[in-house]
Amino acid sequence: MQRTNTCGELRLKNKGQTVTLTGWVHRRRDHGGIIFIDLRDRYGLTQIVFDPEVDKKAWGLANTVRPEYVLKATGEIRQRIDGQDNPDMPTGEIEVYIHELTILNSAKTPPFEIDQEKVVNEELRLKYRYLDIRHERLRKNLVLRHQIIKTIRDMLDKEDFVEVETPILIKGTPEGSREYLVPSRLYPGKFFVLPQSPQQLKQLLMIGGMDRYFQIARCFRDEDQRGDRQPEFTQLDIEMSFVEEKDLMAISDKMMLELTKKYAPGKKILKTPFPILTWQQAYERYGSDKPDIRFGLEFTDISDVVKASGFKVFAETIKKGGVVKALKVEGAASWPRSDFDTMETIAKEHGAKGLAYFSYREDGVKSPLTKFMSEDEVKAITKKTGAKTGDAVFFAADQFVPACTALGQVRLACGDKLKLRDPNVFAYLWVNEFPMFERDKETGNLAAMHHPFTRPMDEDRNLLDSKPEKARAIAYDIVLNGYEIGGGSIRIHESDLQKKIFSLLNISDADAERRFGHMLEAFSYGAPPHGGFAWGLDRLAMIFCGEQNIREVIAFPKDQKAKDLTLGAPSEVTEKELKEANITIRKA
Ligand code: AMO
Ligand code: AMP
Repeated sequence: MQRTNTCGELRLKNKGQTVTLTGWVHRRRDHGGIIFIDLRDRYGLTQIVFDPEVDKKAWGLANTVRPEYVLKATGEIRQRIDGQDNPDMPTGEIEVYIHELTILNSAKTPPFEIDQEKVVNEELRLKYRYLDIRHERLRKNLVLRHQIIKTIRDMLDKEDFVEVETPILIKGTPEGSREYLVPSRLYPGKFFVLPQSPQQLKQLLMIGGMDRYFQIARCFRDEDQRGDRQPEFTQLDIEMSFVEEKDLMAISDKMMLELTKKYAPGKKILKTPFPILTWQQAYERYGSDKPDIRFGLEFTDISDVVKASGFKVFAETIKKGGVVKALKVEGAASWPRSDFDTMETIAKEHGAKGLAYFSYREDGVKSPLTKFMSEDEVKAITKKTGAKTGDAVFFAADQFVPACTALGQVRLACGDKLKLRDPNVFAYLWVNEFPMFERDKETGNLAAMHHPFTRPMDEDRNLLDSKPEKARAIAYDIVLNGYEIGGGSIRIHESDLQKKIFSLLNISDADAERRFGHMLEAFSYGAPPHGGFAWGLDRLAMIFCGEQNIREVIAFPKDQKAKDLTLGAPSEVTEKELKEANITIRKA
C-alpha cells in the first residue's frame, strides 16, 4: 500500500507517529502562511498541515494543489493546539505536519462541490456519479447495502440454502412488465429476453432437487419509473421445496428481524410476530395491499346505512354492487377548506369520482351532502363512524377496490399531514390470500395478480371455473411502512393445473406450449411441492438507509427516464453491429 493509515483512523493516542496518508483534497485553507488541507478518503477526513518551517518544498507544492487533487503525504502526528480541535470530526484532536508531499494526480474543478450539505441537481449527480460517490452519504449507503447482503448470505448459508446463479439471457418470464429484448446474432430474427425475475429457473432448480435455493439476483423490467422502481434492480430470490406459506414467512421473518436488529437498532418494531392481514382485510381497513400500519385511521364501511340514501351517488353505487367507505379524521373539522380540496384532488388523482365529507362543527354537521339526507341518515352515519364534534369524515363511493384505493391515498395524506408516520417505527406486516386474477383494464381479460405459476387456495379450486375472479391464491407480500418489500407464493407443481391456469389467462394451448412447454414438461417428471418469495433489496436498503429513493442505494442507477447518464446509455451502435445483430432500424 502507498499509505500507512487511512484518513479516518488516527487519534490522539497516535501522537508522535510518522504516517503516510493518501486521498483527495477536500478543503484547503491558508492561515498566515500555513496551509491546512482536509484530506479525504473512504474512511474519513484528516487535517494535514504544511508549514514552511517544517518543510519548505512540501509547503511550496501544497500551495499549488486545488480541490480534488490526489495526494500522498508523509508527516508527523501532533495534537492540535488548544481551541483548534474539532469535536465533530473523529480525527479532530490531531493533525499531521507534512514533510513530504507527492501530487499523485491533479483534478479539474468538479461540476459540483463534494459537500454533503449542498443540494445538487440529480442529472448532474448521475452524469458524474463517480464524483457523487465521493460524498459520505452515498458511500455509507453502498457500504450498508453490502453489509445487508453479506448478512443475508451468511444467514441463508447457515440454514442450508445454496446460492445458485441463473442465466441473464433467457426466454420471457412473465411478471407483468414489458421485457428487455436482446437480438441473437447467430439466429436471425430470434431474441433472448432478460429475466424479470429468476422465477422459472428457481422452480426448475426445485424440480432438480436443490431443495433450498437463493440468489442475489438482478432483474430487468421495462416499466415506468417511480421513486421505488428501477428498470434494473436486485432481488433476494428464494425457493424451497416441501413447504407451506408459514414456513416461508418464518424464514423471511427471522432474517428481517435479524437485519433490523443489526442495521436499524434504533427503530421500534411495531409488532411481532408480524401481523398477517388478508388482501380483503387490508383493502377493507386501509385501502391498500401495502398498508402503512404505523397509524390507525381505519375505514368504516357505511354501505348498509346509506343504501337508501337521499344522496343518489351513494344509493346508486350500492345498487350497482359498490360500497361506500368512510374515513374519520379526528380534529379535521378545523382544517381550512383548501385542505379538504387537496384531499379531494388526491382522491380524484387516484380514480375517485369525488370525495364527499362531513365536518362536525360546534354548530352542527357541515357538508355538501346534508341537504340531500334526512337527519336520521346523518345520525346513523355519525353513530357508525363514531365521529364527534371537531372531527371530519371523508367518503368514497365506488366499486370495492377503486373506492378503497382512493380513500387509502387520502388516509396516507392525512397521516402525513398529522405527522402520524413515525420515522422511528418499523411496521412490518404480511398481506396474504391475494386474488388469483385481476381484469386487464384494456382487454378485459383475466391477468395473474402475482404471476401465472401461483397456486390457487385449495378451498377456492371450485371457483376457477365458475367465478375465477373470486378465487384466492396462496400468495403473500411482506410490507414495511407502506412499501411492498417482498412477495411470493406457493407454486403449481402439476402440469394439469398449470395448463388450466394458462387457459384461464387466455393463453392458448399452442401458446402455452411455445412459451412454457419446458415448465409443463418439467412438472411431469416428479416436481416437488414448492414455493418461495423475493425481497426487493433496493427498497429494503433504501428504508434501512433512511432514503426516500432507491437511486440513493444503487451505485449506478438509471434516471427517471430509464437512462444511464453515467455511461450514456442507451446509445446508437454502428452499422456493422446492427448488421451482425440482423437488425434494421425502421425510420419513424
Ligand atoms: P415481485 O414481482 O413481487 O415477485 O417482485 C418481488 C419484489 O421485488 C421488488 N421489485 C422492484 N424493486 C425495484 N424496482 C422494480 N422495478 C421492482 N419490481 C419489483 C419489490 C417486490 O416486492 N418472482 C416473484 C417472486 C416469487 O414469487 O418468488 C417476483 O418477482 O420489492
Ligand atoms: P356533486 O353532486 O357531484 O356536486 O357531488 C357532491 C359531493 O359529493 C362533492 O363533494 C363530491 O366530491 C362528492 N362525490 C361525488 N361523487 C362521489 C363519489 N363517488 N364518492 C364520494 N363522494 C363523491
